[in-house]
Amino acid sequence: MDNIYIEKYQNTDFRDVIALLVQSFKSKFCRHQKLSNNDIENILYASWHLKSDDPAYLHFVAKQNEKVVGVILIRCRKTENANKNIPIISLCRRYGVYNVIMMCTKMALLEGHKLNEGESYIEHIAVNGTCHGKGIGILLLQHGEQALLDMGYTSYTLAVAGGNPAKHLYLRFGFEDIKKTKSRLKGYFLGESQWTIMKKIYNHV
Ligand SMILES: CC(C)(COP(=O)(O)OP(=O)(O)OC[C@H]1O[C@@H](n2cnc3c(N)ncnc32)[C@H](O)[C@@H]1OP(=O)(O)O)[C@@H](O)C(=O)NCCC(=O)NCCS
Repeated sequence: MDNIYIEKYQNTDFRDVIALLVQSFKSKFCRHQKLSNNDIENILYASWHLKSDDPAYLHFVAKQNEKVVGVILIRCRKTENANKNIPIISLCRRYGVYNVIMMCTKMALLEGHKLNEGESYIEHIAVNGTCHGKGIGILLLQHGEQALLDMGYTSYTLAVAGGNPAKHLYLRFGFEDIKKTKSRLKGYFLGESQWTIMKKIYNHV
């Protein structure tokens, strides 16, 4: 891997991380709405608050020449209503009520997992398309795992959509299928109705 390194997410990475997520999950963000990448990025930028010192998350980025090429966000505690300051009115004026409601609904559906005691949950993992298959995804999972182990966590959980080939990566990393879920709402809003919850359990306590 050419000069790839992993570091803790900094607030200055926010724009780059959003651009990477929009690129990686474009089909979900664009479902039933026509927005440019730039518009989606601006809505996320205004409505989502990812602070590097938020104790509810472990957050790492992969960089190459100081450019963000990968990201993993792991939730390990209950969040304190992080989205409370969404500038709904100005967003609706600019992008339309429909687009803003659609985006907020999609975000809520993507973030809907309830944490159990000792559990941590991968909110998202993504690698820039031009860098796929170079081991960056594994590196991000390993970094997250080590941080969780250091903090005494007992399990690593995620949800993967039915046909996502990323599942191979998770199986290879030691995750196992725990439960299959079906959601018409997710099918309608995100284009994926079948999801698998996967878990990796650590027996170090
Ligand atoms: C999933 C993702 C983060 C993997 O990152 P990556 O850096 O390419 O992963 P790695 O190089 O470490 O590992 C590659 C492994 O992932 C699996 N994999 C991931 N995406 C794949 C794809 N599109 N086709 C085939 N295999 C894929 C394979 O098992 C592969 O292993 P192999 O090379 O031995 O066959 C990346 O594909 C991505 O950003 N996808 C879009 C966003 C996404 O779907 N995220 C997961 C949400 S649950």
